[in-house]
Amino acid sequence: MTQPANRLAPISSHYFADLDAKIARLSASGKQIIRLDVGSPDLPPPQAVIERLTEYASRPDTHGYQAHAGPEALRLAWADMYRRLHGIELDVEHEIVPLIGSKEGIFNLQQALINPGDIVLVPDPGYITYSRGAQIAGGEVYRMPLLAENNYLPRLADIPADIARNAKLLWLNYPNNPTAATASLEFFQKAVDFAKSYDILLCHDAAYTQVTFDGYRAPGLLEVAGAREVAIEFNTLSKSHNMAGWRVAAAVGQADALRCLYQLKTNVDSSHFLPILQAAVEAMTGDQSWIAERNLVYQARRDRVAQALERSGLKFCLPHASLYVWFATPDELPARSFCDQLLEQCGVSLTPGTVFGQYGEGYVRLALTAPLDEISAAMQRMEKEFAS
Ligand SMILES: Cc1ncc(COP(=O)(O)O)c(C=O)c1O
Repeated sequence: MTQPANRLAPISSHYFADLDAKIARLSASGKQIIRLDVGSPDLPPPQAVIERLTEYASRPDTHGYQAHAGPEALRLAWADMYRRLHGIELDVEHEIVPLIGSKEGIFNLQQALINPGDIVLVPDPGYITYSRGAQIAGGEVYRMPLLAENNYLPRLADIPADIARNAKLLWLNYPNNPTAATASLEFFQKAVDFAKSYDILLCHDAAYTQVTFDGYRAPGLLEVAGAREVAIEFNTLSKSHNMAGWRVAAAVGQADALRCLYQLKTNVDSSHFLPILQAAVEAMTGDQSWIAERNLVYQARRDRVAQALERSGLKFCLPHASLYVWFATPDELPARSFCDQLLEQCGVSLTPGTVFGQYGEGYVRLALTAPLDEISAAMQRMEKEFAS
């Protein structure tokens, strides 16, 4: 029998793959399941983006391999977006590496930088690829608890000095998945100072910067003066432009780290399909006014969820960004049992906080990625369950 490599040992099967199988079984038995578990936007990108894709795909000369760094127009478009959002001027030659989705970059950066035994500081709960990428590279994961009492920010001062001295990477993600917490520029400044004092590469995953509510603006980590000497930021069109399936993202910032990532990638992938990259250029440089309207759609969904959680007496913080509502289970029920029960009894699928790490115990993540009427139906089922 074929044996897996040792490096696969710390990696269990993916929660969502197992969940898909369970939901398929329940659906086959006639249960109507409402899925609020995965954070995949249900709305499309603007028509102009789709038209740019089809226009380029119809040309005979757009089907070959592309340069590893993609067309210059793509890097210019990322630079344009960073100028518009954060007032930052990026060097398109050295400070931008296009990615095939940010998950790919988050994983591959660690293969490029981490030696066996290197420490990687990851938020817990957090996006799973930070720790999985570190473990596959042979790194040691140190979990920074994100707790409600600290507004889901890691307490950097609590990291033991011997851990910090041996750490090579520190992962942050704000607006946050799964807690929906946000971070201020002052917090980013502290993180940059910490990274500088311990010579750590600070990696900020900015997947949700453009999904914001109530007039909130999410700062970018590179807005901190001097940040790009020690930091890179991952950005993606998956959530900002409703393009999760298109796999378009970039890593920007500290040039030495990006050179290593790029060197690895030239050996792993061969860029992307040009019509998709051209459509991404349109997404980033075309009309952006629709994003505010799209965010109002998510905001209305968030408000419906907040209403139901309040009525049910469940503890949560009203999110001002991201695609998620993070709430405490009733009576401190284990997250997994609560979600199993909700799925089997109400046909509502949510994600247990423990999928994101041990400090997610007692919490559940609800994704706002279904139409309002479906969310409303799910909330009615939940309210009924809690009233009974
Ligand atoms: C925090 C975070 N980072 C990265 C990703 C992956 O994004 P992409 O689609 O660009 O791979 C996700 C997807 O859910 C996410 O929540």
